[in-house]
Order: sequence, then C-alpha cells, then structure tokens
Amino acid sequence: MCGIVGYVGRTKAGDAASDHQHGALDVVIEGLRRLEYRGYDSAGVAVISDGHVESRKKSGKLTNLLAELEADPLQPAVVGIGHTRWATHGGPTDGNAHPHLADDGKLAVIHNGIIENFAPLKAELLGKGYQFKSETDTEVAAVLLGDIYRNQVRNLSEAMQLACQRLEGAFTLLAIHADQPDVVVAARRNSPLVVGLGEGENFLGSDVSGFIDYTRRAVELGQDQIVTITPDSVEITDFFGAPAQGHEYKVDWDATAAKKDGYPSFMEKEINEQPRAVRETLLGRTDTDGNLMLDELRIDESVLRSVDKIIVIACGTAAYAGQVARYAIEHWCRVPTEVELAHEFRYRDPIVDEKTLVIAISQSGETMDTLMAVRYAREQGAKVLAICNTNGSTIPRESDAVLYTHAGPEIAVASTKAFLAQITAAYLLGLYLAQLRGNKYRDEVADVLEDLGRIPDKIQQILDRADEVKKLARDFVDAKSVLFLGRHVGFPVALEGALKLKELAYIHAEGFAAGELKHGPIALIEEGQPVFVVVPSPRGRDSLHSKVVSNIQEIRARGAVTIVIAEEGDEAVKDYANHVIYVPQTPTLLAPLLTTVPLQLFACELASSKGYDVDQPRNLAKSVTVE
Ligand code: F6R
Repeated sequence: MCGIVGYVGRTKAGDAASDHQHGALDVVIEGLRRLEYRGYDSAGVAVISDGHVESRKKSGKLTNLLAELEADPLQPAVVGIGHTRWATHGGPTDGNAHPHLADDGKLAVIHNGIIENFAPLKAELLGKGYQFKSETDTEVAAVLLGDIYRNQVRNLSEAMQLACQRLEGAFTLLAIHADQPDVVVAARRNSPLVVGLGEGENFLGSDVSGFIDYTRRAVELGQDQIVTITPDSVEITDFFGAPAQGHEYKVDWDATAAKKDGYPSFMEKEINEQPRAVRETLLGRTDTDGNLMLDELRIDESVLRSVDKIIVIACGTAAYAGQVARYAIEHWCRVPTEVELAHEFRYRDPIVDEKTLVIAISQSGETMDTLMAVRYAREQGAKVLAICNTNGSTIPRESDAVLYTHAGPEIAVASTKAFLAQITAAYLLGLYLAQLRGNKYRDEVADVLEDLGRIPDKIQQILDRADEVKKLARDFVDAKSVLFLGRHVGFPVALEGALKLKELAYIHAEGFAAGELKHGPIALIEEGQPVFVVVPSPRGRDSLHSKVVSNIQEIRARGAVTIVIAEEGDEAVKDYANHVIYVPQTPTLLAPLLTTVPLQLFACELASSKGYDVDQPRNLAKSVTVE
C-alpha cells in the first residue's frame, strides 16, 4: 500500500550533473512510476528549492500529477520526496493526497500505514490551535512533527524520534524541512522502507524498485528505526536516538526487470515469464549427488523431524498456493497440514506449539495480515518458515527460516508468476521434509524433481497456444458471471481462476469444489452460464477423473456453457465440453502449475478487451501493508 520515495543529492536537474548525480524531481517521479503498483488513488511530491518547501499533489493516477507538474512546474531541487497513495483515512481527493505540510509550510510529510491513535492526537493538536486541511491521519503526524520541531527540538531527526514515541499503529514516514535543506528523515514501524546507497546521493523507497535505476546497494531497516540521509551519510537510530544498524545487501535484479519489455502490460509479461520463474525457483536446490538441499532453511533438522503439524498462513493468491501445496505436503510427508487465511488464523486461538511448523507464504514479504500471524505463531513457540519473493522484506526477516522464490519482481498488482513460484517452492519444501523424515527415498524425490524440471517447458507449450485462449476470452466479454469448478488440487486452481477474473475484469466469479455443486451452487446454473471445469488427469486416480466428468454432465444438462481444462489425450471430456483447453500431461499433484495458466490468460485478455488496466485494477494495491 502506498509507494514512497525519497532522494537527496547535490545536483539540481539542469545543472552540469556529474555522472552519478540526478535532479531530485526526476528521481522521485521515476521512483513513483515504478512504485505506482502499490497504490494509485492519488500522487504527490515535495522538494526543497531555494530554502522553501514546494509541493504538488493530485488525485487519480500518476499521470494526473505529471500533467499538474507540467502546468505548474517545480523549481530544480536536490532534495525531494514522493508518494503514490492507496487511501485509508479520507477519500482519494487532491486534499487528502500526500505530502501534507506543517510548520507554516516548512515541513512536508508522506506516510504509508495507519496511525491508530490519530484521533486523540488530533484532538490534542486542535486544542493547541492547529487547523487541519485534510481528513487523513498523515496530516496529524505532520502537524505533530511540526509542533515538536518548532517547540521542542529544532532538529528533524530528533523531532521524528519524539513524534514516533507518540505514534501507534503502522507507519513509514518521510519528512523534509526547509531549515535542513540537504536532509530526508524517515521512520518505520511495521511498514516497509529500504535505503538505497549512492555516491554523493542517497535514496529511500518502499521497496528497491523506487531507486533501482540508480543503485543496487540497499540497506534494509529494522523495526522501529529512524534513518537520516544526506548526500554523503546514512545514519540509523532507534526511536530513542540510540545508534542502530541496518543490513546492507545487493539487489539481484536490474532495472530492465521492472520494464514491460514490449508486452502491452506487466501482467502479460509476467504470465509469459512463468517458465523462467519456475525454472529459477528450482535452480540450485540439489547437490552433486542429486540430494535435495534447501540451505536457506536454517531450522535444525531435528526440529523439522519432530514437527507434528504444519499450518500454512497466507492471504489471497498466496493462500491458494498454500492450498495447492497442502495436497502434496500431506501426501508426501504424512504430516497433518492446515491452510488458513492469515487474518483469520490469529483470532481463532489456534493450537500452535513448538512442534508446529508454520509456513508463511507471501510474494511481497510485507503483507501486514501475514506478518502479524507470523509474529503470533512465533510467540506460541512455533517455528516459522517463510516462502517469499522479495529479498530484504519483513516477513522473511522475522521468520526462523526462508525459502526464496525466484520469480523476479512482480509489478502487476494481481499475482501470476509468484503463484506458480510459490507452489514450486512449497513442493520443494514438502519433498525436503519427506526425505528428511524418511517418508520418501532419495530416488522417489528425484523422480518428482525430474517431473518438476519438465514443468517450465510445458508451461511454455501452453503459452505458445495462448491465442486460442485469448480468442475464447473475447467471446465472453459480455459475461456477467463465470463459475469455476475443480476437485482435489483443481479446487484451489478454480478459486484462483475466479479471483483473477474478479480482480482484473470486475466480473462476478466464484470457484467451487466440484463435489460441493450438488449441495447448493448448482442452483446458480441456468441457460448460458459459463463454467470453467478443471479436470484431473485420467491417468491419475480414476475415480477423481470420472467424478469430475459426471459434474460436467450435470451442469451441461442444466444449460451451462462448459469450458474444460483437461490433459492432452483426454477424449472423455470432449462430448460434454463446449470448449476444451488442453494442457500437457503431467502427474496430478503438479497439474496446478499448468492448469492455472489458461485461467490467467483468460482473465487478462477478457479484462483487456473490456478496456481495463490489467496492471492496476480498481481499488486494489500490491503489498497490503495495513490490516
Ligand atoms: C491476487 C493477489 C493477492 C495477493 C495477496 C497476498 O492476485 O495478488 O491476493 O496474493 O494480497 O500478497 P503477498 O503474497 O504479497 O503476501
């Protein structure tokens, strides 16, 4: 939620810049462009120029702000901050957009998160005679900071410390002050913030894409820390001024990874990157003897052997990846495995102890619901293993171990390649546990790994035939509702297919377990109702396949238009399908890595043909950093 960028350098745009110096506004705008996927209700910037804070902000997408800046340009500057918003307190209006100014316009503040005690603080500040122009909690933080700066300490870092001591909730705050024209101060609690290290310039971003064009040296901050950047220094303290350390790391992807590369959207690019995402997630996980190795696990083998329950926690698509993985983990490891939405998990008093392994799945590593569930699980004594796509993010840092997916940056708001990478990583983990606990021999593990190794080429075969699915999608452009059915691992695939269609095309879509149909949902079927059916392999458990084929017949008999996703060679489905999309043959447990792909293509194409922005669907934001 909300993208944040900060920059401090020495050279104004238009000045004779040295090789590695940039104008503040250019850096901030480019950063916002890359971070816009985090929120796009409104955007704003502030710079210090000639001793004054100047700001522009506008509701709507970043293009509106750019038009505003063209109509009313800012002066060249060396210090700047920028924000792209996903509204929480106060609607997406110009007035509620960030930055918010305080201290008679000398201070500008941007914020990501929610300040939970904003109401009493606002009452206190109103009592002191301050006035507010917006409905946001951010303006309360800005006015508080301005008040402390003016009346207690005339130093922005120290004022930020004092302000943070009074704030509750989750926040990343960035502030600049006209009196300190070469400084940006930032604070973080439960909200993401990364520092980018330059030469004679330094950067701040909600994530590294905020400054990836300029540096790959990043510093991840800890909880409750304040960082002060100048062109030549980066100083980190806690909220009480005690010196603190960040963790420096090298960003292992480059700026081109965050570009569309000729695709019409990031969504299409990322769907097409899935063979690579799976391949890279599998890469380097076996030793020279073919033994599965998961070095980043860092949890003692004896602990993993004694685990008597696994709970997967995640939200949205990541939770569906967990649901898919559950079938494999239970089958391979014979350990009871539950999957729970992270935001439900910690409120139901779950039974969790030292023998529970909690697997937290998160693409961003910043999802607040998942993070809170991770903390809760660890407090109960469980070991937490994160499956995550984002190096340096909070969830892996706060977990006992991490298994990174190597999907590369996922920019489109709706998740695609991360989903397949999450399933792949969870399968590796399941195989590892099965091998460690003696449920599977090495050659059995090797067989599954071999099958997994063939998956990227099979995904590519589906992508090579994408035009068939796209044509079909265009035929359904007027559909009002689409249903998705699946059994066994096909069930979470159906849920994911429905989610993609809802969020991209704004069409009512629902996924059901095919067996549940007769217990209610079949009442929805009427003449012409489109229904996707994810059919298991006929080469797997026979009963599974034939039951789903019966389900297709039942809905066809009631007028449904059936779109069947089946394995190549499955002739049995043909008679009952209005449309068949074939995917290559693969073992049943691995099928979701293939059957999901046509559903992604369908949703993306249908939404595009309706003229919707598939990268930034309405009301959504990537990285949900509020509860
Ligand atoms: C849907 C989607 C979301 C995320 C969910 C969790 O397309 O992207 O449902 O999967 O918000 O996000 P992460 O994986 O970052 O924790």
